[in-house]
Amino acid sequence: MEIEGFGVIGSGQMGNGIAQVAATSGLKVLMSDIKQEFCDKGMATITKNLDRSVSKGKLEPAERDAILGRITTTTDLGAMEAVDFVVEAAVEREDLKFKIFEDLDRFCKPHTILSTNTSSIPIGRIAARTKRPDKVIGMHFMNPVPVMKLVEVIKGLPTSEETFQTTWSLSQKFGKTPAEANDFPGFIANRILMPMINEAVFCVYQSVGKVEDIDTVMKLGMNHPMGPLALADLIGLDTCLAIMETLYDGFKDSKYRPCPLLRKYVEAGWLGRKTGKGFYDY
Ligand code: CAA
Repeated sequence: MEIEGFGVIGSGQMGNGIAQVAATSGLKVLMSDIKQEFCDKGMATITKNLDRSVSKGKLEPAERDAILGRITTTTDLGAMEAVDFVVEAAVEREDLKFKIFEDLDRFCKPHTILSTNTSSIPIGRIAARTKRPDKVIGMHFMNPVPVMKLVEVIKGLPTSEETFQTTWSLSQKFGKTPAEANDFPGFIANRILMPMINEAVFCVYQSVGKVEDIDTVMKLGMNHPMGPLALADLIGLDTCLAIMETLYDGFKDSKYRPCPLLRKYVEAGWLGRKTGKGFYDY
């Protein structure tokens, strides 16, 4: 299927990154959020990223302007009737995603594929809220989106082969490498990553090591680009907790219980980089 118009729901750290890579690949992008100030903040982040590439000599100023010129913003979800493919990258809350998919299903043209960047909510459960479950799929980008090469493409039970192939090809058009996953809690990426992060939080909780030492062990001992606690701050501690809860609910296995300290940080509003405080201060 030929994709011309591409929609992104949410202009936060994942949404604006997705909009940037889509526009860089040559697509016309419509990025939506609930308030214009959120859209403006997303556009400012994209502009900052592209300016950095220009100053490093990796991007021509004219190309930066062309990329920015391909992105428009809206606070009206109904405007998504113009696009052929949507990625929803709103907050990781099931009720919110259900509502967005019900609305998108009403607004979008019948051929439009509705994908979600959810990190762990079952694709089948989201698909069931629409009248086009065969056209619902997971398209899971990694943070920071412009840098990370992976897109996890998740097939729900009703996802059609055509929807899967279109999403796979689109990931490649974005310069990413797709990996296929089936619809189980946490899919592949977070099924493996989050228990590691949660275990690192348990190491803080039980005073096995200090934050810096835990991260040093994983960085220098395992060659990870950043330690698990710094990574948790980058992802957002609220998102980490939400994913652990999805794993715990989905498998009913105590090995996925969220560390009480993670919950305490989230309750205190210490969500990582986005609030200026998490395991580190920013
Ligand atoms: N946005 C855009 N570009 C960014 C960026 C951001 N937020 N952060 C860094 N970059 C760019 C830099 O500009 C730089 O670009 P050039 O190569 O063109 O110069 C490049 O990335 C490398 O950056 P730095 O030199 O500043 O720093 P670094 O080498 O330490 O890399 C990092 C930073 C890419 C974040 C690296 O530490 C890393 O890979 N960390 C692990 C990230 C990770 O695991 N992400 C997955 C999280 S899980 C997830 O997202 C899924 C989920 O559902 C929770």
